Amino acid sequence: MQKLIIAIDGYSACGKSTTAKLLASKLGYLYIDTGAMYRAATLYFLQHYINLTDPKAVTGALEKIQVSFHFNERKKASDTYLNGLNVEDEIRTMKISDRVSEVSALVAVRKHMVALQRKMGKKKGIVMDGRDIGTAVFPEAELKIFMTADINIRAYRRQQELLGRKQVVDLDDIIQNITKRDFLDTTREEGPLIKATDAIIIDTSYVTIEEQVDAIMNMTVSKMIEITFPIENV
Ligand code: DC
Repeated sequence: MQKLIIAIDGYSACGKSTTAKLLASKLGYLYIDTGAMYRAATLYFLQHYINLTDPKAVTGALEKIQVSFHFNERKKASDTYLNGLNVEDEIRTMKISDRVSEVSALVAVRKHMVALQRKMGKKKGIVMDGRDIGTAVFPEAELKIFMTADINIRAYRRQQELLGRKQVVDLDDIIQNITKRDFLDTTREEGPLIKATDAIIIDTSYVTIEEQVDAIMNMTVSKMIEITFPIENV
């Protein structure tokens, strides 16, 4: 069967990454968490006190950032590395969540990341999640999903995820962070979060992760059949 590019976009904390990871593993596809790339860049910018209003400083910093993903056998999941160091836990802290939308709104940052992401998907057979995958990174993706969910449910799920990382965060702080990020992500000039016209909406409020993955898996198989056996050849 022909390999596809699957783009999963949507609001913060809708379960995009968990769904995309499981889907990629079922399909034997590569999974790329583009949010982790923006988070790693934000960590670098904060660590090096990069002035976000200075284009030269931003470009210079981007040239020094190397983000990679390495499979962690113990967790059975990939960890994010920034310049060779495992930053998986650090990039998920509220300190990074509070600043990431500001950094990812910068045109130079977006252009840099989008170019890297396009390279990663050149061979297809990839599930990529983020905000602009179906609109800016891979507008040609064969399957596009747009995820949404009730804000309270999203915040509760994020709180549980943070607890799993031994971070205790107040629910109201999470709601505030998610609301702010959604606003910044949907209103920025470059690569805003918007539903691609050909994306399929999935509301994850009242479905389990397994149900979400199964639904997208069925769509993937249909798409593969449609592409491999075009209707005029049947
Ligand atoms: O998926 P996430 O919540 O880890 O993403 C963190 C932030 O990164 C998100 O608030 C906006 C930004 N982001 C982006 O601008 N474009 C992407 N493709 C992915 C994430």
